[in-house]
Amino acid sequence: MSTQKIDYMTSPQVAIVSGGSRGLGRAFTEALLAAGWCVAIFARRTSEFTESAPSNPAYAGRFMTRQLDVRNGPEVDAYVQEVIATWGKLNLLVNNAAIAGWAPLAIAEDEFIDWHIDTNLGGVLRLTRSAAKQMMRQRWGRIINISSVVGIRGFGGLAAYSATKAAVDGLTRTLAMELGSSGVTVNAIAPGYINTEMTAQFPKETLEWNRTHSALLRLGTVEDFVPPFMFLASEGAGFITGHTLVVDGGLVT
Ligand SMILES: NC(=O)c1ccc[n+]([C@@H]2O[C@H](COP(=O)([O-])OP(=O)(O)OC[C@H]3O[C@@H](n4cnc5c(N)ncnc54)[C@H](OP(=O)(O)O)[C@@H]3O)[C@@H](O)[C@H]2O)c1
Repeated sequence: MSTQKIDYMTSPQVAIVSGGSRGLGRAFTEALLAAGWCVAIFARRTSEFTESAPSNPAYAGRFMTRQLDVRNGPEVDAYVQEVIATWGKLNLLVNNAAIAGWAPLAIAEDEFIDWHIDTNLGGVLRLTRSAAKQMMRQRWGRIINISSVVGIRGFGGLAAYSATKAAVDGLTRTLAMELGSSGVTVNAIAPGYINTEMTAQFPKETLEWNRTHSALLRLGTVEDFVPPFMFLASEGAGFITGHTLVVDGGLVT
C-alpha cells in the first residue's frame, strides 16, 4: 500500500459537474477549466461541448465526460470512483443536472412526477452520497447544489419542479450540519430565469412577466452565475455553509 500523503489542497483541484454538457453546467465547467481545475462532467446525451472539449489541447489530461443518467445510482457511483482513481481526490461536487417540465399539477401524470423526483432530488441524493464519502476521508470538500427561485417563490405550472428544488434547499441545510465537522461545506445557488434549453419550452408570457417584475428588468445569462459560483467553490468561502444564495436580478413577486 502506498504511504504517499495526498495534499488535497494542492492544485490542480478536482470537480464533478452533473449536467455539464450545456447551459449553466457548461459555463461552470468552462470557468473551472479556465482556472486550472480537473473537471469530470456527465449528461445523458452528447452535446457540441462534449464533442469538442476532449480534443481541446488546453484541457489535456484535465477533462472527462460520460453519457450517464443521474438516476442510475450504480453507474454514477462507478463514475465518481473512476474520477477519484484518475485524479486522486475530489474537491468539489456541483449538483447541476435537472429537468423542468411545464404542467399544472392537476393534469400531471405519475410518470411526470416521478421523473422530476428521481432526477432533481434522487439524483442529487445519490451522487452526493457517493462524493461525500471521499470528501469526509479527505476532511475537505465543497458541494454546490443548483436549486431555483422556484423552490422559494411560487410559479404556476412548475409544481413538481418547485417541490424538488425546495427539497434541495432543505438538503443543503441538513447536509451542511452532517458534513461540517469533516471540513466539507454545502451551499446552494438559486437562479432566477435564464435563457437556456430548459426555459425554451416555458410560455413566453411567463418569461416576460419575470423580466418585468425583476429589479434589473432582465432575465439572467449563464455568465451572471459564474462569479458567485466560483466564489462558493473557493477557499475564501470556507466559513459559508448551509446557505442558499439567490441570484435572480431582484425578482419581486
Ligand atoms: N434555466 C433557468 O432559468 C434555471 C432557473 C433556475 C434554476 N435552474 C437550474 O440550473 C441548473 C441548470 O439548468 P439549465 O438551464 O442549464 O438547464 P439545461 O440547459 O436543460 O441543462 C441541463 C443539464 O442537465 C443534464 N441532465 C438532465 N437530466 C439529466 C439526467 N437524468 N442525467 C444526467 N444529466 C441530466 C442535461 O443533459 P441531457 O439532457 O443530455 O441529460 C444538461 O446537461 C438546473 O439545476 C436547473 O434546475 C435553471
